[in-house]
Amino acid sequence: MGPISKFQKGPPLARLVLIMACLNSVLASVSIASSPTIPTLTLNTGKKIPAIGYGTWQAAEAELEKALDAALEAGYRHIDTAAVYENEKVIGNVIKRWISNGKLKREDIFLVTKVPTYAIDPEGVREYLKKSLANLQMDYVDLYLVHTPFGIKIIEETLHSAVSSGSNVEIDYKTDLLAVWREMEKQVDAGFTKAIGISNFNKSQVKRILDNCKIRPSSLQVELHPYLQQNELVDFCKENNIVVVAYSPLGSLGLSVYIEKLGKKEDFQNVLQNPTIKAIAEKHSKTAAQVVLRFDVQRGIIPIPKSTNLERLKQNLDIFDFELDADDIQKLKKLDAHVRFFNFMIRDGMETHPEYPFKDEVHK
Ligand SMILES: NC(=O)c1ccc[n+]([C@@H]2O[C@H](COP(=O)([O-])OP(=O)(O)OC[C@H]3O[C@@H](n4cnc5c(N)ncnc54)[C@H](OP(=O)(O)O)[C@@H]3O)[C@@H](O)[C@H]2O)c1
Repeated sequence: MGPISKFQKGPPLARLVLIMACLNSVLASVSIASSPTIPTLTLNTGKKIPAIGYGTWQAAEAELEKALDAALEAGYRHIDTAAVYENEKVIGNVIKRWISNGKLKREDIFLVTKVPTYAIDPEGVREYLKKSLANLQMDYVDLYLVHTPFGIKIIEETLHSAVSSGSNVEIDYKTDLLAVWREMEKQVDAGFTKAIGISNFNKSQVKRILDNCKIRPSSLQVELHPYLQQNELVDFCKENNIVVVAYSPLGSLGLSVYIEKLGKKEDFQNVLQNPTIKAIAEKHSKTAAQVVLRFDVQRGIIPIPKSTNLERLKQNLDIFDFELDADDIQKLKKLDAHVRFFNFMIRDGMETHPEYPFKDEVHK
């Protein structure tokens, strides 16, 4: 005899508890599936994109399974991954499970992945999207991004992307961004992605794509946080109806861990310890992370914070019940210091690539 039939024969109170439990689980699944609290922005394709996403770089498969479950429970519906994060399989497994349990439909999820830097050419666009879809166990992604405007070539078969530093890669000087973009457009036509976009491109590279495309980029994903506010690039994208997505929105506290893995050391300023941000957080009874993420949302920018910590990932989503006022915004704007954490210089000679996007900064 199974537990349910035992309860059905049990005393009235036990039956009531069972009915309440069933009712709660039905209500929970209804509210989860519709995820009503997260606002959306509209892409130039007409499709909606949730105003905050869940970043997954450095989220190893073992911890990500549990964390992504919790993220979906909390209400995240926009998930950012990339072939080089090597976690697409587990993301696919979790989403598949949610779909087969009836808690989600495929169209409830906005899934983003990227062409790896070691395959920035037409063949790479095609082949890696196929691989990503196989790993994710999906027929399509919602947004496919060119991860970087520059390319590298793997020269060691045993390479693990997490340690792709100077010695085991060489620079691919032949990167042809317009040829890459034409292949990206074909992926939309083939139905493998609903929209296409770019990442780590500078303004003139975005403009070059806009001037030569059949399908316009829907989104630009760049490093963006209070110390790197990217005003000019953001304004340019808004004028051209390109949604800006902020990567490392908290200042990428995990970057120093990654740099150390490569055997290098750099000191990074911790955005979340900034006294101005901490004071604004205290004023609103929020955390520094919530203030920083809310600042993005009020600028019309989509942050994609990464957390595999079950409390912090919930905290990062809880930013839609308060408003930064004009005084807060003024103070936050003043923190812009043009500090870029991701300049990709960990790869020796990267700045010699013709499409290296931050040349002006390197020679300052
Ligand atoms: N296109 C690109 O080239 C590119 C480059 C970098 C990143 N990205 C994307 O952007 C996402 C986010 O960027 P990121 O991972 O570099 O950095 P981030 O989201 O700015 O910071 C993540 C770090 O902050 C910690 N953290 C998260 N929430 C916190 C909170 N509320 N309070 C204190 N610490 C908190 C995380 O640790 P715990 O996990 O322990 O909470 C992790 O160490 C990535 O995961 C990836 O999806 C894209």
